[in-house]
Amino acid sequence: MTTTEKHAMGKGMKRKEDPRFLTGQGNYVDDLVIPGMLSMAIVHSPYPHARIKSIDKTAALAVPGVKAVITGEDLVAASLGWLPTFHGFDKQMVLAVGKVLFQHQEVAAVFAESREAAMDAAELVEVDYEPLEPISTPFDSMKDEVILRDDRETKTNHIYHWESGQQDETEAALAEADVTITERVYAPRCHPAPLEPCGCVAQFDAMGRLTFWVTSQAPHVYRTAISLVTGIPEDKIRVVAPDIGGGFGNKVPVYPGYVCAIVGALILKTPVKWIETRTENLTTTGFARDYHMDVTIGAKKDGTVTALKVKTVADHGAFDAAADPTQYPAGMFGIVTGSYDFPVAFTELDAYFTNKAPGGVAYRCSFRVTEASYAIERGMDLLAGELKMDPVDLRKKNFVQKEAFPYKSALGFTYDSGDYEGTLDHALTLIGYDELRKEQAEKRARGELMGIGISTFTEVVGAGPSKHFDILGIKMFDSAEVRIHPTGTGIVRAGTKSQGQGHETTWAQIVAEELGLDPENLLVEEGDTDTAPYGLGTYASRSTPVAGAALALAARRVREKAKKVAAHLLEAAEDDVEWKDYKFSIMGAPEKSVTMKEVAFAAYTNPGEGNEPGLEASLYYDPPNMTFPHGTYIAVVDVDAETGEVKVRRFLAVDDCGTIINPVIVQGQVHGGLTEGFAIAFMQEIPYDAQGNNMAPNFMEYLVPTAVESPVWETGHTVTPSPHHPIGAKGVGESPNVGSPAAFVNAVMDALSPLGVKHIDMPLTREKVWQAVRDAQGAA
Ligand code: CDP
Repeated sequence: MTTTEKHAMGKGMKRKEDPRFLTGQGNYVDDLVIPGMLSMAIVHSPYPHARIKSIDKTAALAVPGVKAVITGEDLVAASLGWLPTFHGFDKQMVLAVGKVLFQHQEVAAVFAESREAAMDAAELVEVDYEPLEPISTPFDSMKDEVILRDDRETKTNHIYHWESGQQDETEAALAEADVTITERVYAPRCHPAPLEPCGCVAQFDAMGRLTFWVTSQAPHVYRTAISLVTGIPEDKIRVVAPDIGGGFGNKVPVYPGYVCAIVGALILKTPVKWIETRTENLTTTGFARDYHMDVTIGAKKDGTVTALKVKTVADHGAFDAAADPTQYPAGMFGIVTGSYDFPVAFTELDAYFTNKAPGGVAYRCSFRVTEASYAIERGMDLLAGELKMDPVDLRKKNFVQKEAFPYKSALGFTYDSGDYEGTLDHALTLIGYDELRKEQAEKRARGELMGIGISTFTEVVGAGPSKHFDILGIKMFDSAEVRIHPTGTGIVRAGTKSQGQGHETTWAQIVAEELGLDPENLLVEEGDTDTAPYGLGTYASRSTPVAGAALALAARRVREKAKKVAAHLLEAAEDDVEWKDYKFSIMGAPEKSVTMKEVAFAAYTNPGEGNEPGLEASLYYDPPNMTFPHGTYIAVVDVDAETGEVKVRRFLAVDDCGTIINPVIVQGQVHGGLTEGFAIAFMQEIPYDAQGNNMAPNFMEYLVPTAVESPVWETGHTVTPSPHHPIGAKGVGESPNVGSPAAFVNAVMDALSPLGVKHIDMPLTREKVWQAVRDAQGAA
């Protein structure tokens, strides 16, 4: 047995998939070339709100190589005019009929022999628009002066109201509080912007079976959704998600382009490819956030919090295309009490349509957890400022205590485990907090602006227990299949789909640990609905909490089966055989043992009388609860008052995601997520002007950080296992995106606090910081 065969868990094994990616041999949707395949291009509306008077396809159809042009009317005639959105509150037009409702909305699709011909022809589709007054903010929309959606029976732009908690008790506690703070904090509309945009290839074979290669984070849900929308029987659909260049929630929804490509392949009887441009990705596919949150916290003079109230206005754009679980219109926003023991809390949210792109996807977050985390972590810092307390002391005073788990929050979640103070203390030591505060005092005395920002966030990930969580009615379980070959190697399959998270490595490690096998020789397969077991996919950091558990338990099922064969080989009763030190041995006689590899061979050659041959198992796992990862993030910044430039001098992330499967992969996840969090805090926004124009439709305006501007990340961890997860693991992929924006903003506000600046909304661009400094100096 080699060393890698033992203790696969917790090892910093190199990613098995990386040789493929690092040598440019990944297999992405756009790499697929099928003889005779057509290209599809989409015609987009230049107007955010306009009536479509007519569409003339003539000039487009005359372009050499063009085979067809379809419009919304064509789709309506085929009963394919609308798509259901995943969380079931709304539907979305595939191609606009009657009215366009956001700038860049899909209006027609062109099919041609080349991408160039399709794009040229798309420009020649003549659409006669009658422009209408656009609505760019939910605050205008809520007046209901203009009703945007003609298709809905209810004549209002209001989509839904959601609330949770104890309203009367919270109001009473706030009225009695010694101190209250209230601030409107905005989580700006941003975009996951994966480096590979969305795309698909649709092909029907001679038997009428559809194979659909697509950039999907949830291939099985796509298969079911395609069947429900098109009426194609589900067995006649194969969805394949090959390698994916980042998803971050952007590749969860089904987009109009996918429906058009399938329709094109069906009517033209030839494969169709559609690959988005960058602008299409940024302007039409699922945006994230756009939450305006009024945060109120009440506290006693000594800093003990007594109540939390958060009232949110959400901008969902033209269609509510969030992919939240159906029972959670505002996702997991109820985690807004964070790491703190609020005796009472109340949160309510109203969502509105506007003339902006649809979405509301969970951008690297477990459904609105980033918004919630940002609200509470900003709120706690504002309270610390009001009380003139160190933000560390205020947090320590109010943490849910280690002994209090499982802890029921005022908004109804039962947190599984945590050690908030232990993680914070570890972070304070690692970063040298006391010295930093001393340095800050010295700098302040010299008039220099240095800030230290803390965020001690709690997440809720692992959707989810089937009694509460479903998408389109499909329960949010996940699945695993483990198949061991005679020579002790094997195939591991799961219902998840990696988009860069390293599942080919960590899934092998989980199974290897359970079976005492070499993870290098366990091939992991995901993403092909013909072979993978049905699962709900990868987003919201659910893979490790749900599929990770399914993998461990499926491997244990294999072990149970193997034990019977081992008993036969050891000539012992099954009850006398135990699994210890990665092998089967006879209890009390450890020298008599067999390895899993030996048992695997026997399972196919000599299983023993009455034992079923072969060695495989599958398992569907319905988690009993979510997992609640947490962490302490600390940012140290210097602000140049003259230019508004913020330099992030240091950033430390101490995460607690329970048992760690692969520390190198976890560190990679944290580095990537912090880089995205940094971008959200300082540079990324999809703003719309008053005329409804999308002001960041490309990477010239929507900035993606490179190694040049990204800070150097320092990391650490504590380990508080989840008590209900078979291996104690919680998710981690999203923690850095969830926890870091507040740390950055808190640091900048801490730096500006001597000037009396309390809050600036993200992104903290140079201009905004400079302006805030100017205003404060002018006011002084
Ligand atoms: O659902 P998604 O894969 O995006 O997120 P995740 O479950 O947090 O996992 C991201 C990556 O980190 C996977 O490769 C996990 O196996 C790995 N991970 C780990 O090694 N240890 C943990 N406790 C959590 C995640």
